[in-house]
Amino acid sequence: MKDILTAPFVEDMKRATANMYRQGWDERNGGNISFMLEEEQVAEYLDLNNVIREIPTGFDATDLIGKIFIVTGTGKYFKNVEVAPETNLGIIRIAKDGTTAELLWGYADGGKFTSELPAHLMSHMARLKVDPQNRVVMHSHPTYTLAMNHIHELDEQKLTHTLWEMCTECIVVFPEGIGVLPWMVCGNNEIGIATAEKMKDFRLVIWGLHGIYGVGKDMDEAFGLIETVEKAAQLYMLATASGKRINTITDENLWAIVERFSLQEQCRKDFLNL
Ligand code: 13P
Ligand code: ZN
Repeated sequence: MKDILTAPFVEDMKRATANMYRQGWDERNGGNISFMLEEEQVAEYLDLNNVIREIPTGFDATDLIGKIFIVTGTGKYFKNVEVAPETNLGIIRIAKDGTTAELLWGYADGGKFTSELPAHLMSHMARLKVDPQNRVVMHSHPTYTLAMNHIHELDEQKLTHTLWEMCTECIVVFPEGIGVLPWMVCGNNEIGIATAEKMKDFRLVIWGLHGIYGVGKDMDEAFGLIETVEKAAQLYMLATASGKRINTITDENLWAIVERFSLQEQCRKDFLNL
């Protein structure tokens, strides 16, 4: 059996959490990540018959029965994942009842998975229906994205449009736009259901005045989506703070980019005023 601490998926979690922390997006225990793993891959490192603990999830994830995830722990600091992965991360498998998580490794201090597990697993279920390659769900509190939430309408079309206008390549990175939820109580099934509903159409979902979700086939895709939104939000905040914006990328310009990159199918044209 290979040493789990050398597993590429543990390495991916360490790198992602460290990068997110250093970007200033994940203060204290802010943010969480779940990454769906292949059974054969995990079997190289762990005895899959050895369930350390059973932890109820409080919701039905029947679609994910038997699926294995590496997930950040609740209350755990992203900055500590790289130094103590076994305490700050856990590997869980969804049990046959669909409502229990079988702990296969981690949460070594008796902890458990993120309080946002409903939003994560429900988002995995929603995205896998649209994109069978999806593996990662990432939640974060990026600074400028949140600052922008305070001064910009929390409207899907308007927020997407403003971000697209900020830098030329935004519309290439997220042509389908961004889903937006109003402020809601977090950590429960209700916000999980609302997030998953948005995930049918979007790979990015803003939680009003809280943070953002990004998904993808790997860590880079989820991280890159959030990073691009955050860059655009930073530009918006800087340009707005100057008090005068005299130039913009027009909707005609944006559509020309869409055509250049052949994104007509993916692009939410109704979010443009053409
Ligand atoms: P957890 O520590 O439970 O992952 O919660 C952090 C967070 O960002 C809640 O939205
Ligand atoms: Zn959060």
